[in-house]
Amino acid sequence: MTPGNGSGDQRAAVLAAAFRHALTLAGMAEGSTAPNPTVACVLLDVAGQTLVAAAHPGTGHPHAEALAIRMAREAGLADRIATVIVTLEPCNHHGRTGPCTEAILTTPAREVWFALPDPNPVASGGSERLRRAGLTVCALEELDHPDRAELLAKATRLLAPFACRVQRGRPFITVKQALDTVGSMFPPPGQKTFTGPEALTLAHRLRRRADAILTGSGTVLADRAAFTVRHVPDIPGKSRILCILDRRGRVDAAYLEEARQRGLRPVVAHDLATCLQDLGAQGCNEVLVEAGPVLLQTLRQIGLWDEWVLIRQASPGQSDHITITSNTHPV
Ligand SMILES: NC(=O)c1ccc[n+]([C@@H]2O[C@H](COP(=O)([O-])OP(=O)(O)OC[C@H]3O[C@@H](n4cnc5c(N)ncnc54)[C@H](OP(=O)(O)O)[C@@H]3O)[C@@H](O)[C@H]2O)c1
Repeated sequence: MTPGNGSGDQRAAVLAAAFRHALTLAGMAEGSTAPNPTVACVLLDVAGQTLVAAAHPGTGHPHAEALAIRMAREAGLADRIATVIVTLEPCNHHGRTGPCTEAILTTPAREVWFALPDPNPVASGGSERLRRAGLTVCALEELDHPDRAELLAKATRLLAPFACRVQRGRPFITVKQALDTVGSMFPPPGQKTFTGPEALTLAHRLRRRADAILTGSGTVLADRAAFTVRHVPDIPGKSRILCILDRRGRVDAAYLEEARQRGLRPVVAHDLATCLQDLGAQGCNEVLVEAGPVLLQTLRQIGLWDEWVLIRQASPGQSDHITITSNTHPV
């Protein structure tokens, strides 16, 4: 199961470390790749030394494996590639780029480890293709190492937005909700927020990785929120859809125009399910819901959410309390 140099335990430790490296790299690309998944690849030599590591930079760019192989070639290291570690099963189809399976088969690699199978039926089948070509292909769940479950959980969470879109036709839904010390969502008069700096940074990190923001007319009318990424650096060139549920048409054209000028792509929607399907069809892997109690209660009641980020305002002088809950039930 774990060919190569060294004992089985040592080899498994090398592979686990390489998976950790790849998952960290992929995590750094989170939010940059829609409609593609966040994927990273690490190439090892026969001794288990890292030759090259690369993450998929986003649509229109090479996939992680193809990029890593190209980098290895440019560095004169390609003939030393023995093992390919990748966070997602190599694709086996001709999309905007060639199949990663074929890129791998141009190298001397004899072994491929991937974290998760491809949830996209169009691109799957890579393992079979590589096995037919005589390579040893293994999934992370086969790795005999104490960190396996943790690594699998990391990989699953990283892939979740893409998997959600390709399997359910809608983006992964992250809800952000802030409650003050008495459990109210309403900021005091004249303020748009009541949370501290740590929660504010988290909120902007959530915006950064989201491909769309979903809100309700109530929030727009009360706050005229900017919905831009400010407290962390934004992903260069990224533009988000701002979807506003507003059946009564209360949101004014001036607000929509200002949003456009801030780089957002505002759309007014009348139906929640339709707007989520539309976001999925437009390639949004993740939507961040930043709305008031009316919309949040609907989402909670029908279980239409994937991750709920709850920020509870702390007493003066203390940090806000943040909990992240995952909705593992199918919706
Ligand atoms: N603490 C926090 O985390 C937080 C976050 C955001 C906002 N807020 C606060 O929340 C307050 C606004 O509350 P709110 O409950 O009125 O805001 P909201 O939920 O953002 O907006 C409610 C409006 O959105 C539309 N809508 C909601 N659900 C819908 C659905 N399922 N389908 C179609 N349309 C739907 C409805 O307008 P139509 O009937 O016209 O369609 C509804 O009146 C503000 O004071 C704001 O500061 C707090």
